[in-house]
Amino acid sequence: MQTVIEKKGYDPAQNADNGNRFLTGNGYMGVRGTPCEFGPEGMAAVNLAGIYHQKGDAWREPLNAPNPLYFEAEGASLAADAGNILSHALSLDIADGTFHRETAFSLPGGVLHIAQERFCSMAQVHLLAQRVTLRASGSLSVSLRAGIDSRVWDIHGPHYDRIDFAREDGVIVADAVTDDGKTVCAALRLCTDEPCAFSGGLLSLTAGLRGGEVYAYEFIAAIYTSADCADPRGAALRAVQESPGYDALLAQQRSAWNSLWDDARVIIDGDPRAEFAVNYSLYHLMSIAPRHARDLSVPARGLSGQTYKGAIFWDTEMFMLDFYLGAMPQVAASTLRYRIATLPGAKKKAAEYGLSGAFYAWESQEGGREGCSDYNVTDVFTGRPMRTFFRDKQIHISAAVVYGLKKYFERTGDDGLMREGGAQVILECARFYMSLMTKRILSDTYDLCDVVGPDEYHERVCNNAYTNEMARMTLRTACSLCPQYATDAHPDELAAFADAAGHLKRQQPDPQTGVIEQFDGYFALEDASVDAVRARLKDPREYWGGAYGVAAHTQVIKQADVIALLYMLGGYDRSVTEANYDYYEPRTEHGSSLSACMYALCACMIGRPEEAYPLFLKSAEADIQGGGKQWAGLVYIGGTHPAAAGGAYMVLLFGFLGLRFEGDGFSLHPCLPKGWTRVSMNVWHRGTRRRIVCEALPS
Ligand code: BGC
Repeated sequence: MQTVIEKKGYDPAQNADNGNRFLTGNGYMGVRGTPCEFGPEGMAAVNLAGIYHQKGDAWREPLNAPNPLYFEAEGASLAADAGNILSHALSLDIADGTFHRETAFSLPGGVLHIAQERFCSMAQVHLLAQRVTLRASGSLSVSLRAGIDSRVWDIHGPHYDRIDFAREDGVIVADAVTDDGKTVCAALRLCTDEPCAFSGGLLSLTAGLRGGEVYAYEFIAAIYTSADCADPRGAALRAVQESPGYDALLAQQRSAWNSLWDDARVIIDGDPRAEFAVNYSLYHLMSIAPRHARDLSVPARGLSGQTYKGAIFWDTEMFMLDFYLGAMPQVAASTLRYRIATLPGAKKKAAEYGLSGAFYAWESQEGGREGCSDYNVTDVFTGRPMRTFFRDKQIHISAAVVYGLKKYFERTGDDGLMREGGAQVILECARFYMSLMTKRILSDTYDLCDVVGPDEYHERVCNNAYTNEMARMTLRTACSLCPQYATDAHPDELAAFADAAGHLKRQQPDPQTGVIEQFDGYFALEDASVDAVRARLKDPREYWGGAYGVAAHTQVIKQADVIALLYMLGGYDRSVTEANYDYYEPRTEHGSSLSACMYALCACMIGRPEEAYPLFLKSAEADIQGGGKQWAGLVYIGGTHPAAAGGAYMVLLFGFLGLRFEGDGFSLHPCLPKGWTRVSMNVWHRGTRRRIVCEALPS
């Protein structure tokens, strides 16, 4: 089974994508897949989970740690000495989460080979390790600089007021401090016998390399922050001093990854490309999974950078949760406990809008703080911020939290989270929808007006089909679960929920065509093709939505919306699913990486695996292929795509294998793509790990 992904040759235009493609991580931190001499200009970063900072009025975003794995050889730096490169390759082994780089440079006096291997320890999440080896063809004297890089890559920084460096007992320490007193501390044990100078976090030395001999530099580093403990400096110092050497850490790394793969590995006989793409997706989901935490969730761009403000979106509950439930149930619980712990933030947000209950942050940071700004996109032509309504109107986020809690309960059979506050969360979300609904004076219909559905290109619409059904699901879930748990629900209130659920407008399939209108008035919009709308762009980075966006007045949508409803909530006739798939797919730009997997799932539901297959690959290979949308107006939105990775898992399990959980058991209803002869994998269900094997009948 393939486990290595490799890119040969140096192309600076690939730096951003490679940083994502070759990402390593352990849930506590994510280290971009960049060569060791890269700094901020090459987007090198050690991204931390769950610790945020706001510089002045700029966007609040997560903190990056000073990079403790910096190494540079004079005359042999990819960007500065591109003319000297003889060969270059980057690779990642998903079997053990190790990043590799090998470059040969032509220097006066001989060829210098630089090899680099590094990983974020899965066994001890505060630790990072790297081994750099040098080999010269002839005798070379090379100036080296290695240590903790003081230049931290930030999008909306600089976040640190100061970074203090020291060297104690052979350990380099950096204390980075923000204006609100947050501290990020990096410590590095770097063994070298050569005499060196120390300044600004870096050791400088001159290495005399004898031809043919291998010189190795081992880096053992630790990161702790003030969010972890009272003395992050002491903790980081102790961690590197007590850490075993590189080889022992690597052995721990292999065994930690082996046990993760034991639960997660997917084998697809007959299609090595799909097999690698799925496992690569799962690698990313495992690399960013907060195994170390009790109540932390997973950001929309994982731990690949500060884009999307390091925030948690509906992506986690709706697209990633199935994988975590299937392979890492404790992580699933942690992501949902994060929602329970951030209920006060969600209640505060609702109150700010004059609403009741819990309105979860569209872009949730620590404590449930809303990271989404009123102006989330910058206009390419004027450079001015554009008013967007994601934060105010994407009310389906609260229902996503309910959906996640309910799914966790059904899949694990464990009501622990309900008792820990999950039932109260569900109640508060129902209260939120109650406070938003309006009743028509002349009829018994209730409406949810002025919302943004999953398709963000159409803002402030009424009765978005997806949103209304998710709100109804929330009200009904509250009615059925709240009486069983200690919440402050009042019986009259639950009766009102039941009544509202019965009267909230349902966008019904059209009796003739079976198509469900995405929102009131959608069918009256201009029916232009995606290509025609794209041709109207004056700048490729232009935002398609908002008041004047090219898609806003047309039926072209950003991503699965009605189709997401059909899959996520189910219960529609196959003919309805078919009619909507055929109607909406050609009108969908797939401008979000969350889109393709939903269409693939619906394609499987209507027995069209061959149509599902390219959409599935698009999701599974989102970070292998790179590219994708990098801009929303002038805002950089690149990074990894964990929701697409989770979506690929969903297509495999619930689409191609057709797995349906039934009580403690399950059944399979496969519709395998051509060429797949056998699929096998493990899935946790109701506290037991089940083995799934699906074989195609010989044709
Ligand atoms: C999508 C959202 C998604 C967010 C983060 C946006 O482009 O429209 O649905 O939650 O990205 O992935």
